Parts: sequence; structure tokens; C-alpha cells
Amino acid sequence: MSKSQPIAVSGVRPTGKQHLGNYFGAVVNFVKMQDIFNGYFFVADYHSLTTHPDAADLREKSKNIALVYLACGLDPNKCALYLQSDVPQIPELYLIFNMFAYLGELEREATFKEKVRDQPNNVNVGLLTYPVLMTVDIIIHKAHKVPVGKDQQQHVEMSRDFVRRFNNLYKVNYFPEPEPFSFNDKLVNVPSLDGEGKMSKSKPDHTCIYLEDEPDVIRKKMMRMVTDSGPKEPNSAKPAIIQNVFDMMSLVSAKDTVQHFEDKYNDCSIRYGDMKKQLGEDMVTFLAPIREKINELSADEKKLYDILGDGGNKARASAARTLKDVREIIGLKSF
Ligand code: ADP
Ligand code: TRP
Repeated sequence: MSKSQPIAVSGVRPTGKQHLGNYFGAVVNFVKMQDIFNGYFFVADYHSLTTHPDAADLREKSKNIALVYLACGLDPNKCALYLQSDVPQIPELYLIFNMFAYLGELEREATFKEKVRDQPNNVNVGLLTYPVLMTVDIIIHKAHKVPVGKDQQQHVEMSRDFVRRFNNLYKVNYFPEPEPFSFNDKLVNVPSLDGEGKMSKSKPDHTCIYLEDEPDVIRKKMMRMVTDSGPKEPNSAKPAIIQNVFDMMSLVSAKDTVQHFEDKYNDCSIRYGDMKKQLGEDMVTFLAPIREKINELSADEKKLYDILGDGGNKARASAARTLKDVREIIGLKSF
């Protein structure tokens, strides 16, 4: 890590197996960022407590996320890889920042409203203040950039509001306003395989490609992608479900393969069965090295714990500096 590089922070909740959406929306950016940013990448285990997970399950899933990060190419010598709950400065700053968040704005936030609708029996306060905790994850390292997918954009916008409020209230220019970050000009959205909305681990298994899926499972899932009877007119616009298949292909296939099927689409000779078969093969080839690495790394638990221990040290050191400054700025200095 070098002092002069801008700071990037991001995390993933350990709520399930990692899928292609997590890979392209988040992890792939972390890997590219580690060379040009001071990167802090973490397992957002506090965040997953909102759904009251079983303790052993949470531990297993947290470990799995860290393994996947490493298998995808995060290098602990270039960035800090840690568990959110290993950084006690986060809950302290979270308490402080709850004073700068207003009930109305938290209640209006889209994810919160969705949860109120989807899980009326567990509308806990942790869900409401989720954007505050996420803000703190980011600003505890005074981050500039937050690599996330499109679905997290509103949360990052809120963190900018909270930061601005803090800086104005205390007439300081202490925290930078964090920005969502993607290497593409558009934030990536990996579609669900049933063509409805984004790929997500909260949707049925067959709509999601997991990084650990075996080749045959991947092939079967790709063949089940929804298509239609094909274009009737040359060069016609693509319906959304067909665009999804092309979008998926452009993530994992070679450019000329995509172009081949574009041409076939445009002259109405496309056969979606062939396209999905090709996509299945390209997906298998793309994911094979990641799956193999996950298997290899999971055989050495001690190494994983050492890496997380090390990352925790780096994260705590950075967090302690921020918290000391904040306590001083708001008048909590110890006497
Ligand atoms: P899920 O919706 O499966 O629960 P998370 O909410 O844990 O996924 O998201 C973890 C990270 O992966 C976030 O940065 C999010 O923006 C990104 N992400 C999740 N799903 C997608 C998707 N389908 N397309 C692009 N990025 C995604
Ligand atoms: N809220 C993010 C998600 O659901 C995970 C997350 C928690 C996060 N804290 C963060 C992402 C800080 C980026 C920065 O995917």
C-alpha cells in the first residue's frame, strides 16, 4: 500500500455463495483496483446479522467469501482483506454517525422499503440503519472510491450525504465524499438467467451461476436461459430476454464469438440453442480456474486465517487513526 494512492473500500455480505453478478459487479473490480488504489476489502459480517443467521453458518459463509476473494485474485500483499467484525472502531463510529442520519431519509431508502415488504416479521432497526453502517465501513478508511454494482448506488449516494453533513456541521473538510466506482462507464448489471431482474443469491438456484458450480451444472443452467422464436426482420431491436443472453456472452466469450452471433441475429439466421451451447462452454472455461483455486485454497485453513489476521491489523490501524481524529473533531477527546 502506498500513501499517495487514493483509497478504495468495498465489502460483500456473507449471505450465500458468490455468483457471477458478485464477480462482475464487485470482485473483479477489487482485483483490478488493488494495483492503483489503497484497497480495503472486507467480509461484511455485521451486515448479515440483520437476517439472524445461524452462528456456524455465518462463520462458514464468511470464510467462503474470503476464499473466493483470494481465488479471484485479491493479493493480501497489495490490499487489506479482513472481516468487518474484526474492526471495533466500526461500531463506535457507527454510533456516532447515527446522530447524523434522519429517520425520514432512512425510511425512504429503497432497500429498506423492499425489506419491509418482503419480511414484515423482521423489520429490525439494523435494517433501517444499514446505510449508516455501510457509510462507516467506507469512511473509516477515508475512502474515495467504492467499487459496487448498480444496486448499491443509492447507498453510496447516502454516504455522500452523511459525510457532507458531518463536514458542514463541524466546519471541517475531513472526510472525502465517496463515489461509486466501476472500470466501465456504466455500472455492471448481470441479469438473472430467467430474464427477470438481476442475478441474485436470493433468487432460485437455476437463475444464478455460482462461481463454484460444476461444469455440467453450468451447461444445464445456460441451456435453460429464456429465449424466443427469433427475429423476423433483419437488424431488428433485441427484446430484453435476448439482450440478456448477449450481455451474458459479452462478459465471458471472445469478442468475435459475440460478433458471430450478432451477425446471425441481424440476418435472422440465429439459433439460440447453438448460442446458449457456446455460452455454456465459454462460461465453463471462464470459471474453471476460479473453481480450482477455491478448492486449492480451502485445503489450507491456517493460511486463510493468517491472511485475515494480517488484514485485520491493517484495517484496525487505519480505522484507529480516523476514529481518533473524529473524536477530537466532535469534542469527545479524552482528558
Ligand atoms: P445478492 O443480490 O446476490 O445478495 P449482494 O447484495 O451480496 O448480492 O451484492 C454483493 C456485491 O455484488 C455488491 O457490490 C453488488 O452490487 C454486486 N452485485 C450483486 N448482484 C449483482 C448483479 N446481478 N450484477 C452486478 N453486480 C451485482
Ligand atoms: N451493502 C453491500 C451489499 O449488500 C455490502 C457492503 C457493506 C458494502 N458495506 C459496504 C459495499 C461498504 C461497499 C462498501 O452488497
